[in-house]
Amino acid sequence: MVQLTLPKNSKVKQGKVWPKPEGAKNLREYKIYRWSPDDGENPRVDTYYVDMDDCGPMVLDGLIYIKNKIDPTLTFRRSCREGICGSCAMNIDGTNTLACTKGMDEVTQDTVKIYPLPHMPVVKDLVPDLSVPYAQLSSIEPWLQTVTPEPATEWKQSHEDRVKLDGLYECILCFCCQTSCPSYWWNGERYLGPAVLLQAYRWLIDSRDEATGERLDNLEDPFRLYRCHTIMNCTQACPKGLNPAKAIANIKKMMVERRI
Ligand code: SF4
Ligand code: SF4
Ligand code: FES
Repeated sequence: MVQLTLPKNSKVKQGKVWPKPEGAKNLREYKIYRWSPDDGENPRVDTYYVDMDDCGPMVLDGLIYIKNKIDPTLTFRRSCREGICGSCAMNIDGTNTLACTKGMDEVTQDTVKIYPLPHMPVVKDLVPDLSVPYAQLSSIEPWLQTVTPEPATEWKQSHEDRVKLDGLYECILCFCCQTSCPSYWWNGERYLGPAVLLQAYRWLIDSRDEATGERLDNLEDPFRLYRCHTIMNCTQACPKGLNPAKAIANIKKMMVERRI
């Protein structure tokens, strides 16, 4: 029989409301998804209050404040704090983005609501399990492949060819696009998804790479490439302003061009 409600253990409950920092006058409310594999409890949403007079301006600053001063068990990933490593990707105010580059003043509601990247298994709290997209990335072999003998110094590229990599090499593999794509939600095991396909295109278009045919063969599949239905959520989600949907369209074009 079709199950029309969520299984009991996946319902998100109201969580704990943590005390306000003593003496703080300028508070910002955070509501954060919490789940631990260790206690057998349902996920919950905890409420915290951040003292804005004692905290930096970014959403990540608020998370660090909470972890350092209120609740050390709160779990999230971060490293660079400047939009380079991609590790602090999460769903903030209903949008996938980077916590370190999202200003608290950009959050449209009074409360800062934070969930993990959607439609991925959760390791703990705001940490998604990215094993599948990493395996998919590895399947497209994202490195330079050549057959001609190696040059004495380096593989050269004209300025014109180098420019073709703009809008592609800047990808930080945060997977904000990947986890905002409806086609990836439904076929995540078989469809490669926008982040991985943008990477695939980055190597297909690199003038120094000599494995273009094999790379296209590897993508010629009803699921790996063609599950993209040009819904464009990916492009809207990218916090680096990249356009994975365009990269995917360019791969499809390359597929057609090699047939004629
Ligand atoms: S354009 Fe393609 S990859 Fe991007 S969200 Fe839509 S279906 Fe997904
Ligand atoms: S294309 Fe943008 S959203 Fe997607 S993984 Fe790269 S940087 Fe992140
Ligand atoms: S901490 Fe590196 S991108 Fe946010």
